[in-house]
This record gives sequence, C-alpha cells and structure tokens, in this order.
Amino acid sequence: MTIRIGIVGMGGIGNQHARCYMNNPGAELVAVCDVVKEKADEAAEKYGARAFYSLKEMLASDIGLDVVDVTTSGFENGSWHYEPAMEALQAGKHVFVEKPISNDIREAREMVQYAYKNDLYLACNLNHYFTEPADRAKQLIADGKIGQPVYLLQKMGFNGSEMTYGGVGSPRWQRPYSHLKAFLAHPFSIMRYFGGEITHIQAFCDRPGVRKSADDLMLSVAGVNMRFENGSVGYILSQRGDANFGLGGWWSFEMAGTKGTFCIENCVEKLTYWAGAQAGQPQPEPEVFNTGITDFSSTFQNRLDAFIEDITNNVPKEHLRSSGRDALATLEYTYAVINSYEEGGALVRPEPLPNLHGSVGYIW
Ligand SMILES: NC(=O)c1ccc[n+]([C@@H]2O[C@H](COP(=O)([O-])OP(=O)(O)OC[C@H]3O[C@@H](n4cnc5c(N)ncnc54)[C@H](O)[C@@H]3O)[C@@H](O)[C@H]2O)c1
Repeated sequence: MTIRIGIVGMGGIGNQHARCYMNNPGAELVAVCDVVKEKADEAAEKYGARAFYSLKEMLASDIGLDVVDVTTSGFENGSWHYEPAMEALQAGKHVFVEKPISNDIREAREMVQYAYKNDLYLACNLNHYFTEPADRAKQLIADGKIGQPVYLLQKMGFNGSEMTYGGVGSPRWQRPYSHLKAFLAHPFSIMRYFGGEITHIQAFCDRPGVRKSADDLMLSVAGVNMRFENGSVGYILSQRGDANFGLGGWWSFEMAGTKGTFCIENCVEKLTYWAGAQAGQPQPEPEVFNTGITDFSSTFQNRLDAFIEDITNNVPKEHLRSSGRDALATLEYTYAVINSYEEGGALVRPEPLPNLHGSVGYIW
C-alpha cells in the first residue's frame, strides 16, 4: 500500500517535499496545487502528478488522496497554513503542515483539536531533530550516559552582519514578530525533544541599529531563558543574520547532565560527547562523531520518511512523530516569548497543552 499525497503550495519548500516523496517507495505524489498556474503545471510535469489551481478543486476530484501536505507560507511564514489545513482536515484527509503550524495561536489550537476530535493525523515539519547526531544523542540519554539533565543551550539562526543586511524584505517579514513566529519553532522543538515540557519562559528581544535606521520592524534577536518541568534550565539565542555565529556554526545544541555532556554542531554534521570523570580519575577524552553529512536538506528526507512510516503503520495518534501537538507546544512557547517581551522581560508560564488521553487498545 502506498500513501497518496497532494501538495498545496509549490514554492521552494513544496518542491523540496516533492523530491523527498519521489525518493520514498511508500509514498506516491499524485497531485500538486498552486494558485499560480505555472508553478502547479511545472511541478506536475516534473513529478508526473496532476496539477490543480485550488485545494477545493483538488479535494473534490477523483484523485484519491490520503494526505494533504501544506507548504504555503504567508505573513510570518505561517498565515496561509490554517485555511488549507482545515479545509483538508474537514474533507477527512490527514495533514502534514510546514512550520510554524500557524502564525496565530488560536488557529493552531483549533487545528490540533479538530484533528484530534476527528481522529486524523496532523503532523508538522519540525525537521531539525531527524538527524544522525540527534539519534545518537537520544541513545546517549537512553543509555544513562547523560544522567539527570542540568542545562540545555541552543544557538540557532542565520549568519550575517550589518554589511550583508538586505533591507526589510517582503511583507511577510515586515512585522515585529516575524522572526520569532517563523523560526523559534525549530529551537523550541529541539529543546522540548531533549528536555521535555518547558514551564517558565523569560525573554529579551531587540534589533540592531542597521535595522532600526531602515525602519525594519522585525525583532531579529531573541535571548530566551527557560525552566523545564524536570527542573533543568535552558537558554536559546536566536538571531536573523545580524552577526556571525562563532563556535558550533549556525546551529549548535549542548545538553549537560550529571553524568555527561553532548554537543551537536551544525545540525546534521557532528556530535561530541564528554563523559564525566570518575572521582580521582582524569577527564576521559571526548568522543567525536562526524557524520560526513553537510547537506541540511537531508533533514527533510528523514522527516518525511518518518511521517510516511508512521502513517503506513497506522501508529496511535499520540505516537505520531513531530505531531501537530508538538508544533502547538513550540507556538505556545513562542507566544510566551512575545508576552514576556511585551512585559519587559516578565516571567511567563506557557499555556498547557491539550491533554493526551492515549489509545486504549495500544496501552492495554
Ligand atoms: N522546515 C524547514 O526547515 C523550512 C525551511 C524553510 C521554509 N519552511 C516553511 O515552508 C513554507 C513554505 O516556504 P516557501 O519559501 O516555499 O514559500 P513560498 O512563498 O515560496 O511558496 C508558497 C507557495 O504557496 C502558494 N500558495 C499560497 N497559498 C496557496 C493556496 N491557498 N493554495 C495553493 N497555493 C497557495 C504560493 O503561490 C507559493 O507558490 C513556509 O511555511 C516556511 O515557514 C520550512
């Protein structure tokens, strides 16, 4: 059995998803849709799929879809997610949506609730932990080599400088919270993947002078303090091309526990593990694992392969990897960042997530 997929939004990312489905024998890309006719036609030709120019038309057709993959963008790279995702869910289709799940928290909550109540899969592209270093890091944790979590540190964003600043950009970026809403889904997804739920958030956000003098409204720098439910602490530093990142490159994540520490550099490239020294013994040499992978787009293939595997295996909804609920968590945290910023750095408790009731047949 193959999973029949239709993609809505054939921009750069829609095409990226299409290439991944073409590489997956369990997936069949049968439809592509874009409001810009040429984009839909070009993709249809390239991938041997049928072209549509509206989702309504695609859903009403006889093409026989299992999944609608939403790769539209909009303000803050997310305002065009809610409508197509809801339209597809209402037609009884499983949905895969790009991040952020939406740029509006009320819409995101509704999407997650709707999918849950109608027993449909809603997944999101939190692709940054579908990597070899992340798998190895999870194994280190499972093997007891990290111990009780102490701190989690994430530096993630874009390299740049005031010399490379390119101006305010398209309307999707001309809003104060564009960077936060479009991007923090990624570092928060990593923090939560390794550290669990975040209970307290405090943030400071700003933009450098080069943006201010260009009347660029976007807050491009965020420093986010947090506390996890398990008692450990964390910090995210994210910026959008205002400075060059130092050690660890554009993406580094370090997690330290009472028994050992690991650090992932450049997302897909490298993991280093430092075991804690035994009493009276010298510090062991760090273990370095270089993947040999430098291409970030491998995260898309890995993530979409996992999605196809989950749907094919009909996993219980609460076991779906990188689910709509996981994506909602990242947006709840992002809203906590915004609330903290608006209150001058106040301590904010993110809204709790909807309860997970569990699938009876699976647990018992
Ligand atoms: N996960 C990642 O690593 C990652 C990286 C980059 C971008 N993204 C996300 O991918 C998404 C798409 O980004 P992009 O750069 O390809 O955007 P884009 O604007 O280049 O492409 C979106 C396409 O959707 C089409 N579209 C919009 N509304 C439509 C509708 N209702 N029906 C049919 N077509 C419609 C547009 O015509 C356009 O061709 C964004 O949400 C972005 O946040 C994710």
